[in-house]
Amino acid sequence: MDHFNYQDGVLCAEDVSLQALAEAHGTPLYVYSRATLERHWKAFDDALGDHPHLVCYAVKANSSLAVLNVLARLGAGFDIVSGGELERVLRAGGDPKRVVFSGVGKQVGEMRRALEVGIRCFNVESVAELERLNREAGGLGMIAPVSIRVNPDVDAGTHPYISTGLKENKFGVDVEDALDLYRQAAALPHLRVTGLDCHIGSQLTSLDPFVDALRRVILLTRALEGEGIHLEHLDLGGGLGIRYQDETPPSPRDYAQAMLAELKGTGYEILLEPGRAIAGNAGVLVTRVEYLKPTRHKDFAIVDAAMNDLIRPALYDAWMDILPVRPRGGESREYDVVGPVCETGDFLGKGRSLVLEEGDLLAVRSAGAYGYVMSSNYNTRTRAAEVMVEGDRAHVITRRETLEDLLARETVLPA
Ligand code: LLP
Repeated sequence: MDHFNYQDGVLCAEDVSLQALAEAHGTPLYVYSRATLERHWKAFDDALGDHPHLVCYAVKANSSLAVLNVLARLGAGFDIVSGGELERVLRAGGDPKRVVFSGVGKQVGEMRRALEVGIRCFNVESVAELERLNREAGGLGMIAPVSIRVNPDVDAGTHPYISTGLKENKFGVDVEDALDLYRQAAALPHLRVTGLDCHIGSQLTSLDPFVDALRRVILLTRALEGEGIHLEHLDLGGGLGIRYQDETPPSPRDYAQAMLAELKGTGYEILLEPGRAIAGNAGVLVTRVEYLKPTRHKDFAIVDAAMNDLIRPALYDAWMDILPVRPRGGESREYDVVGPVCETGDFLGKGRSLVLEEGDLLAVRSAGAYGYVMSSNYNTRTRAAEVMVEGDRAHVITRRETLEDLLARETVLPA
């Protein structure tokens, strides 16, 4: 459930009309609902009840400072994948002791900074990384908390670009090699083994792959305990899907119950890293129809948002719902909703049944995750503004990029 509904014929974010926001702040415009964000984080937190746990929001899904700050105020943990994301979390008031650091390519400077601020855990993905982290921690006279990301080799049944738990992926270490890596970690003087981590993919709409992965992980924990390697937490990653069209993903409650059922009798603290399920349906992208272009073959609605603003349809052929902000009467036509970028792949939706006139506003739903964060300046298009609504108030949380912002870092060669 989210807080984007029609009121008096106009689509609203909580109690603020998207039309009013578009008029005040221009388009394309990302609009988020604070109540929805909070509701989704709490759904995970509540679902785990009194089992020891920490819900670490995956910052990559939407890393705007205001979004992170709203979650930090709830006591959220954060899953980061770069030094940049770490600085965002710190600036947003996040607690470094609730930060886990994922990713296959952690650099020396990123490790040092994370050690200095005292993050909760490094999710290590290779032997080389283990050795580097041991060296860096030693250099600072510190002990780094680590968990190893294992690759349980389950098919998440999701888009190949966002499926990460199979053997052939670059992520994690094979479950068969994990024991050996844990032995090495346990023997390194500047590391402390604290957990085990896995993340099998994104936009999963069934519980089976999660359960399969967890069963394999639990077998591994038994082997580890047998060798005297004690874990404090299991990090089960993110990946719970959301409804874009007609998917019926499990709720956070169903998901947590399935996980807890498998974990009976183990005392591990559970860490989760949901991104999309928290931010996805907490945001929309508002765009204006620039032109209607009927052709012999199909009708195009050319809008002012493009693949540089929201790349998911172009990159993954992702289906995202497109709604009129103020629905009008009349006969609908099938439109391909496309942007102004010079690529055939620049579309937001195809074959959508809409009643449109030039100047109308459309809202692309479920754009709160992997939307703004994946935007670019392709075709020298400046990045959109972001607004967060709370009740009947709206705040600009990221001002629209200007051409001056964009060109400020560039110079021509000397004469
Ligand atoms: N943890 C790790 C280690 C991850 O790699 C990811 C996502 C997450 C957590 C969060 O997963 P979520 O709960 O959001 O599914 N750009 C793609 C999604 C890429 C996901 C990458 N990793 C998209 O737009 O669909």
